[in-house]
Amino acid sequence: MSLKYKIPRGTYDILPEDSQFWYKLMNKFRELCRLYNYHEIVTPIFEQADLFERSVGDSSDIVEKEMYKFQDKKGRVFALRPEGTASVVRSFIENNLGRQSSITRVYYSGPMFRYDRPQKGRFRQFYQYGVEHFGSEDPFVDAEVISLANMFLTKLGLKNFRLELNSLGCRDCSPLYDQALVNYYSSLKTDLCPDCQQRLTKNPKRLLDCKVDSCRNYAREAPSILDYLDENCRRDFELVQKYLTDQGIEFIVNPRIVRGLDYYVKTAFEFTTDALGSQNTLCGGGRYDGLVEDLGGDKTPGIGFAGGFERLIEIMKIENIGFNESSEKSIYLVLLGDQARAQAAGILHELRTNGIKVDFDITKTSIKAQMKSADKAMTNYSLIIGDEELARKTVILKDMSTGEQQIIQKKELVSTLIPLVQQ
Ligand code: HAM
Repeated sequence: MSLKYKIPRGTYDILPEDSQFWYKLMNKFRELCRLYNYHEIVTPIFEQADLFERSVGDSSDIVEKEMYKFQDKKGRVFALRPEGTASVVRSFIENNLGRQSSITRVYYSGPMFRYDRPQKGRFRQFYQYGVEHFGSEDPFVDAEVISLANMFLTKLGLKNFRLELNSLGCRDCSPLYDQALVNYYSSLKTDLCPDCQQRLTKNPKRLLDCKVDSCRNYAREAPSILDYLDENCRRDFELVQKYLTDQGIEFIVNPRIVRGLDYYVKTAFEFTTDALGSQNTLCGGGRYDGLVEDLGGDKTPGIGFAGGFERLIEIMKIENIGFNESSEKSIYLVLLGDQARAQAAGILHELRTNGIKVDFDITKTSIKAQMKSADKAMTNYSLIIGDEELARKTVILKDMSTGEQQIIQKKELVSTLIPLVQQ
């Protein structure tokens, strides 16, 4: 066999042996969102490219370098979504989701696309889970959103993570901080990496996020945003910390958390881990109080977060965390002879109609081969049906762990199996 087609670089298949894992992770997230009264929203995987340019920001790496942009047949410019917030805000405005209540809470999950250099924990197509909360500026909500992320990671059984918290200031005080950064970095300009030299004029806060060693050293000595917060931002940031402490959620204040997207104001946070190497952010988010208005909606504050499933799965493997397999018992149908095969469809239908999961292997005919398959499938019970049983309207039920067999009437099959599989 020669491989004629290969998967695109930076993407991967979720294979059948892993898909249950994904499904369960998503179910856990759904379950938690229900507790916090969030409702699911599903948006298209492509949008007008301009939506991301306006929201994520022209000077962000995502828009500058990483968007999968394309033209449709009518020349309209679209982009595969690099993140979920912009699409959710677009939908919030377009569908007037805020009309029914002062608060709107939504959650989402699905593939996102960024054309970045693939590496461990960084893909070109990756799956995010996330939430967005619209309608309140109250720092209580910040703590509530952070608590949801914290609860999710905790409920999954993760231990090796921490919450890093910052305030980026509002649109009044943030420019003063940008100016302080420009002043600090101006004399260092020639020592900065080419990207940072550009950031200095376009988006000074992003200088703090550079991964180049020399730039990182300068970032350590840079002025702190916390010294530039105005009264209102400072008070709200203190309240967020108080509400987190009230819930027993530990955090560290890290004034160098700037996030890579331009829409953030005030609270910004990341859940990070030491277990994953350089791609160490499990999830991140923050406030974006001006975004709804910037995209044409009524003035509406918002806050949310998103995380990648891949990094979660990776760390769960490292920490040896699995999901408890369901206690559902499995049944294997063993068919002996043509008569039994002829009746198999009816039996399978009856079992499935009654919610009983059943497996069989039509390629095998001998009892030995079929019992071997049943063993391999780690089945709990086998149902053996041969000509003799058919003539007597019975089936043989074999408990695979004890080897015990019993003969049951075919008409009592479902009522006998239900208590066994639900045990
Ligand atoms: P973000 O920090 O760009 O924020 O991405 C959130 C998370 O998505 C990251 O912490 C990481 O777990 C995962 N992630 C990002 N890029 C990749 C990649 N290339 N491969 C694998 N995983 C990745 C946002 O996307 C914001 N929309 C979050 C938000 C929601 N802010 C407010 N609401």
